[in-house]
Amino acid sequence: MKVDILLGLQWGDEGKGKIVDVLAPQYEIVARFQGGPNAGHTLEIQGKKHVLHTIPSGIFRNNIMNVIGNGVVIDPISFLEEVRGIEALGIDICKNLILSKRAHLILPTHRLLDASSEASKGKEKIGSTLKGIGPAYMDKTGRNGLRIGDILEKDFNERYASLAGKHLQMLALAGFEYDKKAFEENQKKWMECVAFIRTMQCIDTEYYLNDELKKGKRILAEGAQGSLLDIDFGSYPFVTSSSTTCAGACIGLGLAPSTLGEVEGIFKAYCTRVGSGPFPTELHDDIGEKMAQIGREFGSTTGRKRRCGWLDLPALKRAIMLNGVTRLDMMKADVLNEFGEVKVCTHYMVDGKETDQMPYNLHTEIKPVYKSFKGWGKLPETTSFDKMPAELKDYITYIEKAVGVPIKLVSVGPERSQTMVR
Ligand code: GDP
Ligand code: IMO
Ligand code: MG
Repeated sequence: MKVDILLGLQWGDEGKGKIVDVLAPQYEIVARFQGGPNAGHTLEIQGKKHVLHTIPSGIFRNNIMNVIGNGVVIDPISFLEEVRGIEALGIDICKNLILSKRAHLILPTHRLLDASSEASKGKEKIGSTLKGIGPAYMDKTGRNGLRIGDILEKDFNERYASLAGKHLQMLALAGFEYDKKAFEENQKKWMECVAFIRTMQCIDTEYYLNDELKKGKRILAEGAQGSLLDIDFGSYPFVTSSSTTCAGACIGLGLAPSTLGEVEGIFKAYCTRVGSGPFPTELHDDIGEKMAQIGREFGSTTGRKRRCGWLDLPALKRAIMLNGVTRLDMMKADVLNEFGEVKVCTHYMVDGKETDQMPYNLHTEIKPVYKSFKGWGKLPETTSFDKMPAELKDYITYIEKAVGVPIKLVSVGPERSQTMVR
């Protein structure tokens, strides 16, 4: 058996939550490998919307084990809120969820450091979700971090106090003002949530996953964010702090590259981005506004409005290359129903030259070159691809040819059922 991976190929919010939930019945284990509560994965089940942040999107399916891998950063407060929300639906989450002892903790001070860092950057801010992601990963790579396994050790409280104390000194040095009373309360709550996590299944998930794989269990690795937000290959510094590409699944779960099977890359029929940073095909006009309104493009975690633009093929091809994508899922085709004309960026003009590669410095003048398609109008209420309008078929065939990977799944609405498998 091999481990399949589902990951976002754009700037996040491609619809990963929906697709993991749709694919989950084909697997026995769903595992998150990076990111943390900055993610917001939406699932719509029988008209009801659920947003997951740290918990894998297999949690709403029966008999699926969900694993939070070592590459994930966990905020106990946000995590417990999520757990309680799912328990309220009658799901026995403690039975179906395992945490890696090696996953790092987000401390209340990490959130303050995130806010302080953003405030100091002024107009140059990343547009972080302010969940403490960057500072938590900094402590991980700086070899100062606290991990889930540490909460089971006797000296945890002292180690917490030492690290939080160091952070408070940094905040004082930066002159960052914050509500001390709210912070103290938050810290108390955080410790209570840590106490709850001690009652959960916290194990060496790398052994669990490799053993289950050997037994023939089918595993799906669920990515968070998207390739264009990757710490190495994204639009740095306007990125997140983890490896969002396929390689991140090996590191974030303890799986060897030879265990990887299909790499399913997911993209919207257009592009969105939330937060700051370059976006070559961004539309600053009524068309972009129309996409945002029809697509309900508001962040699942922060509620911020997402920036919108046409599909960017140079960016998509690069993400396919970096991940070795073997099949594609195109999402939100229905959002473009009301557009008489649909465009795709096939190349960029950079310094007067045509290129289909993303330049190192995305802040240089990049002029997208577009190919225009006739819109497909209202889609029939069917999941039979054959019955879809010729214009949508043309759009899909063009993209497949341009990127050299088949589009296996087309999504035409947020519900599980609004999915066409080709
Ligand atoms: P994720 O972070 O990749 O899981 O994506 P988000 O949940 O942040 O954002 C995707 C949004 O699009 C959610 O509100 C989904 O319910 C919604 N969605 C997913 N697929 C479709 C689709 O095919 N059509 C429409 N209209 N909405 C979709
Ligand atoms: P999902 O998994 C979209 C963006 C933030 C910001 C940058 C850095 O739902 O697709 P961070 O909080 O990580 O320090 O923010 O990354 N960002 C996301 N954008 N979807 C996400 O996750 C994101 N997670 C982070 O908006 O620009
Ligand atoms: Mg999201």
